[in-house]
Amino acid sequence: MSNVRPESMARITTPELANAFIEEQIAEVRAQVGDKKVLLALSGGVDSSVVAALLIKAIGKQLVCVHVNHGLMRKGESEQVIEVFQNQLDANLIYVDATDRFLDLLAGVEEPEKKRKIIGGEFIKVFDEEASKLEGISFLAQGTIYPDILESDGVKAHHNVGGLPEDMQFELVEPVKLLYKDEVRVVGKALGLPSSMVDRQPFPGPGLGVRCLGAITRDRLNALREADAILREEFDNAGLNKTVWQYFIAVPDLTSVGVKNDKRYMGWPAIIRAVNTTDAMSATIEEIPYALLHKITDRITAEVEGINRVLYDLTPKPVGTIEWE
Ligand code: XMP
Repeated sequence: MSNVRPESMARITTPELANAFIEEQIAEVRAQVGDKKVLLALSGGVDSSVVAALLIKAIGKQLVCVHVNHGLMRKGESEQVIEVFQNQLDANLIYVDATDRFLDLLAGVEEPEKKRKIIGGEFIKVFDEEASKLEGISFLAQGTIYPDILESDGVKAHHNVGGLPEDMQFELVEPVKLLYKDEVRVVGKALGLPSSMVDRQPFPGPGLGVRCLGAITRDRLNALREADAILREEFDNAGLNKTVWQYFIAVPDLTSVGVKNDKRYMGWPAIIRAVNTTDAMSATIEEIPYALLHKITDRITAEVEGINRVLYDLTPKPVGTIEWE
């Protein structure tokens, strides 16, 4: 298949068109793969999840999915990958909890790009180790989408830290490489994936690693994960998950004095970021209603160990980037 999206290719906007695309890809993948085995790094993001669901439909247990938990996932994410792919879709799934490996390597590392390199490099190592334990793998599936190929507006294109080893001698299977993100979502829904997986906001490859600012510690990472889960829950309840492009918490490595349960309480601030954009190159701030901000503040300060203040970042991009580091 050529790397250029044919001008004539109709956009996939309806379940009917998605089903036709799925049938066509199933036939293509079966013809390409035959009875050989295919390996896929399944992060739980939209693209790799849709590719996994499509390939399970096409070749069942000939697909081997590897999910590497780097310990920097959001709350419940790895659990959802296991629930959906292992329990519901009966996938051939290898789950690797590499939390300690990643957090040990990251201990004391403050510099953001160094953190990214460590996370990207270790991911490749873990994946490579798992791949070398398997026998008879001939193909590598990837959730490449059309913007990744264009390298002009894709989020991943600017931050390519999670690439796979160049010396992996596999032929590629890339069934959604001519699709745009919204088309991948329509296909994912037609494949029966849950909305919480298919409609999710972009999440950086290094995960919470670049939101636990500076040198990552387990206690602060844990506080960040819990605060982020509360933010997501409250955005879900308010319906903002359907309209806001990206929202998250960042927790800096600084403490201030506060009062909890009538006692002096040193804690970190949780910084809310909620932005809208079309291409991630520039972004505006979501105007979260004050009542909701108060509710989120009350919940995070009451429920999350280690947090004693909540701040709202009002800086558009530019000047601020979307992530804090
Ligand atoms: P910035 O912070 O540059 O982010 O305004 C723009 C978009 O890119 C995402 N982002 C990343 N994605 N690996 C990724 O896969 C990364 O290292 C990375 N850094 C930022 C960010 O979440 C936003 O959507």
